[in-house]
Amino acid sequence: MNPMSDADIPWFNSNSVGEDPRGMAESGAERPGDDDKDIIQRPDLTDVDTEVRNLREHAQQLLVDKTYLENEVGQLKKRSARLEEELRHLRSPPFIIGNVQDILDDERAIVRSSNGTVFLVSRNLRLSEEELKPGTRVALNQDSLSIIDVLTDAHDPLVAAAEIIDAPEVLYSDLGGLDDQIERLKDAIELPLMQPEAFTRFGISPPKGVLLCGPPGTGKTMLAKAVANQTKATFLGMVGSELAQKYIGEGGRLVRELFDLARQRAPSIIFIDEIDAIGAKRLDAATSGDREVQRTLMQLLAEMDGFSEVNDVKIIAATNRPELLDEALLRPGRFDRIIEIPLPDEEGRKAILALHLGKMPLDKKVKVSNVIDQTDGFSGAEIKALCIEAGIRAIKDERKNVIPDDISEAVDVVRKNRNKPKDTDLVHYG
Ligand SMILES: Nc1ncnc2c1ncn2[C@@H]1O[C@H](COP(=O)(O)OP(=O)(O)OP(=O)(O)O)[C@@H](O)[C@H]1O
Ligand SMILES: [Mg+2]
Repeated sequence: MNPMSDADIPWFNSNSVGEDPRGMAESGAERPGDDDKDIIQRPDLTDVDTEVRNLREHAQQLLVDKTYLENEVGQLKKRSARLEEELRHLRSPPFIIGNVQDILDDERAIVRSSNGTVFLVSRNLRLSEEELKPGTRVALNQDSLSIIDVLTDAHDPLVAAAEIIDAPEVLYSDLGGLDDQIERLKDAIELPLMQPEAFTRFGISPPKGVLLCGPPGTGKTMLAKAVANQTKATFLGMVGSELAQKYIGEGGRLVRELFDLARQRAPSIIFIDEIDAIGAKRLDAATSGDREVQRTLMQLLAEMDGFSEVNDVKIIAATNRPELLDEALLRPGRFDRIIEIPLPDEEGRKAILALHLGKMPLDKKVKVSNVIDQTDGFSGAEIKALCIEAGIRAIKDERKNVIPDDISEAVDVVRKNRNKPKDTDLVHYG
């Protein structure tokens, strides 16, 4: 085939022969001597020069633009790659959490997944044997259950949150009528923490735990908070119901981690409030939830037995239903000391009233001895409620101080309130 001739290309011909868009055809060479044309021609050349310069500048500008855009494309590509990576992360299936039970060989391990089933799985060779000790918390692939990663934070967030960093602002002096109990608690908790060597010298082991028991509102929780404030030991506080978990093994694990943390941060005090939630008698458990609570209790008993050598972890527990507690918890070697916090007697009520009425402007006719008589059978919390109620009445009537009627009415209100919701407690303490 013939290559294309010039004539085949219309623009080529028209361009070279026809009208020249840049006025080249009119360039003076063909018409020398024409002065007028000459004069016109010069500015033409300058025009061309300027145009060439402009075009060069334009080309330069375009080059700069090109580099800029290339740069931008590069950055956008990177960003898109990053976003895609993020998207992949978000779309990736969740891992299952489990615990290593045993390492069989270089490739296989036995793990217990969080729902309790035990599996033989392959392990990631990237993870060294030291990292994969039995008991380590690991992430497992959802399909193959092979070990993907080791989770360093072995403490459940619930346990980690138990550590009270700011000591509560409760002082022993905020408690009225509990001097004996405070003294006994100090002997059992503070003394061994401060002078462990003295106990070794006498060849006795200090009590491991103290159980505070007594009717609701008698200041048990407050007493434990005061201990936390007073000692320099780490204070780990948990409520029994937090330890009573629904899933198999969860409650036991929480207890184990709680004690682990306490040992790490020793000297430390573990406070379990409302321990009846997990410490109730082990009867024939009807539901799997009950059985799980019993397992949690057994773990607690085992932990209490396990740390005999460690004298710098102490346990305080509180309950208002001691008769419900499993005997195993109460035997010597576990909660060695049971400190009863009874309803305040006359002296106690006097002290508590002094605390709560102390700052209140009282009418001269108010006789504290009368109030003490009126509040027979009241708990500390009820006495506090009564003082608040009496104060509110005085403020509402725009009086400057509290009169005996305020107090009598407040006593009635508190008594009425008590009879309603706390019926069950009255059965036990009535
Ligand atoms: N002996 C006391 N002296 C001064 N205040 C007291 C005393 N006992 C109880 N109170 C008041 O009652 C409130 C409730 O006390 P606390 O929470 O310690 O009761 P509790 O014994 O733990 O009750 P529960 O068994 O229901 O948990 C406290 O905030 C405090 O103001
Ligand atoms: Mg309490």
